[in-house]
Amino acid sequence: MPHDFMPGLAGIPAAKSAVSDVDGEHGVLEYRGIRVEELCQRSSYLETAYLLLFGHLPTRPALAQWEQDIAHHRRVKYSIVDLMKCLPEQGHPMDVLQAAVAALGMFYPGRNVKDMENNYWSDVRLIAKLPTIIAGWARLRRGDDAIAPRDDLAFSENFFYMLTETMPHPLWVEIFDDCLILHAEHTMNASTFTGLVTASTLADPYTVVASSLGALKGPLHGGANEEVVQMLKEIGTVDQAARYVEQRFHNKQKLMGFGHRVYKVKDPRATILQSLCEKLFSTCGTSQLYDIAVRVERRAVELLDGKKVYPNVDFYSGIIYDKMGIDSDLFTPIFAMARVSGWLAHWLEQLRENKLFRPDQIYAGEHNRPYVPLDQR
Ligand SMILES: CC(C)(COP(=O)(O)OP(=O)(O)OC[C@H]1O[C@@H](n2cnc3c(N)ncnc32)[C@H](O)[C@@H]1OP(=O)(O)O)[C@@H](O)C(=O)NCCC(=O)NCCS
Repeated sequence: MPHDFMPGLAGIPAAKSAVSDVDGEHGVLEYRGIRVEELCQRSSYLETAYLLLFGHLPTRPALAQWEQDIAHHRRVKYSIVDLMKCLPEQGHPMDVLQAAVAALGMFYPGRNVKDMENNYWSDVRLIAKLPTIIAGWARLRRGDDAIAPRDDLAFSENFFYMLTETMPHPLWVEIFDDCLILHAEHTMNASTFTGLVTASTLADPYTVVASSLGALKGPLHGGANEEVVQMLKEIGTVDQAARYVEQRFHNKQKLMGFGHRVYKVKDPRATILQSLCEKLFSTCGTSQLYDIAVRVERRAVELLDGKKVYPNVDFYSGIIYDKMGIDSDLFTPIFAMARVSGWLAHWLEQLRENKLFRPDQIYAGEHNRPYVPLDQR
């Protein structure tokens, strides 16, 4: 049956899902029917991860058990640390994360994806261990020892502790946890789809997540947050911002952190992240990068008038992490350590009625070409 080809599968449903929903016209994002604004105000990242995975908010004992299970599985085997020590210091943390996650699958039973008990522990291990791998690599590449996780610390607090060996400012923990909530899930995006394609072969969840990590790395997806901060640093001062945007558009270059396949208004996550920036900077001092970003946004929106291109999730997140002293190449791995819960929620959902992905193509090549022998070409 012939079909129209849609580049990028734009607008083609790839799944029926109850995990999250985006209303791109009105700028609404819901996880399991609950708006992200409300989750940021009232929930924690781990509670939100539970909601995504299991479809409902946990009771108090269920949440306590979930938090405890995650806390008890944060450590990574010394062999994983040894593996990371063998990787080049200048290696991108996303590549290291992908390699380490693929390696995790060799240590833990994950192949029998029909075993739901096993799948639960795979979810726990992946959500628990990604931060340990990311923080471990941030230190190992500088010649420092990785710091073991602490079971008594909350998820975001423990991540900062593993990065710096010090206790973070409570406001940083609160804001960082909100950032994780905002990055936890976003319907059928490139990395989720990639993971689901892999999952449809009944591959184990470590391989599924390793596939998603590969897709998230690219600058048109999760990699944009790193590039935004580089761009703001390159602009240098608020005075230069408008001219930079004008020049970029004049050269037909896209602005990183702007535009979205689904949102035709400002991404609600960008709006919340902007308010988190203001909360952070009102307590911990201003940020030149933030002032530049606001000026960039104003000029870009003026120039893009009519195209419905506005800041997306990646525009303000890196500014927050930069203020917290986090290296810019860790921004996408941090996106991943949040998004893993969304990937796994889609994985569990798909397993219930799995069908191997096998799309069609429109062949645009020739037929019946003669084979020309090598010495006659
Ligand atoms: C995310 C993205 C790939 C979505 O792209 P898309 O839905 O395929 O939309 P298109 O690239 O076709 O863009 C549609 C129009 O808006 C413009 N546009 C889209 N994003 C833009 C951006 N970031 N800067 C400037 N113009 C942009 C395009 O130039 C195009 O204009 P035209 O119709 O005159 O040619 C795209 O907006 C982009 O590359 N953004 C920058 C990377 C980024 O921030 N990615 C993170 C996404 S969360």
